[in-house]
Amino acid sequence: MKDYQQLLSANKAWAARMVQEDPDFFQRLVDIQKPNFLWIGCSDSRVPPNEITQTRPGDIFIHRNVANLAVHTDMNMLSVLQYAVEVLEVKHIVVCGHYGCGGVKAAMSRHSFGMINKWLRHIKDVYRLHQPELLKIANDDQRLNRLIELNVQEQVNNIAETSIVQRAWKKRNAPHIHGWVYDLHNGIINPISEIMANDHLQNEIYEYDDLDGIQH
Ligand code: CO
Repeated sequence: MKDYQQLLSANKAWAARMVQEDPDFFQRLVDIQKPNFLWIGCSDSRVPPNEITQTRPGDIFIHRNVANLAVHTDMNMLSVLQYAVEVLEVKHIVVCGHYGCGGVKAAMSRHSFGMINKWLRHIKDVYRLHQPELLKIANDDQRLNRLIELNVQEQVNNIAETSIVQRAWKKRNAPHIHGWVYDLHNGIINPISEIMANDHLQNEIYEYDDLDGIQH
């Protein structure tokens, strides 16, 4: 059997097992999804959101990209965010990075990687923002892992700085935003930053004060 056919046969076995355990499992999810969580994570194959959080189909709305970035001009991320916040009305947004992230490692080097330079540039900006702290760390792996944490923290800020989230804060006092980093060595998630609904932001320039009536 070819490797991709293996996926299809595993899928059949999984679907049969789910129905055996819970005959209504698929039927319940056909007409509605009401996840409590939006997950913005890295595309890395070793960090599968449902598996590492023991959640099931229907539990988490997911967006993944290289190095779990929330870039405020990324229409893909913004579309996911708007739908999750305004239609699904998620209670929590999780930005989950992971130690040893290849995207962050690439951004911390001075190599040119082609087109992806444009994407990694956002992480270089995070490096510049926190350069004094990072330069104090002598060990390369520790410096990389600290940048990975700071990158997650900055993406949490980016999410909170959107008018989409701030309008929801006014309307329903949610979602709360959580920054986590997953450790590939032991499978444990390390919470590193958090912005609760209606918290004040680091800089008030990002807090919109006239969101009533204006769309985005
Ligand atoms: Co990664």
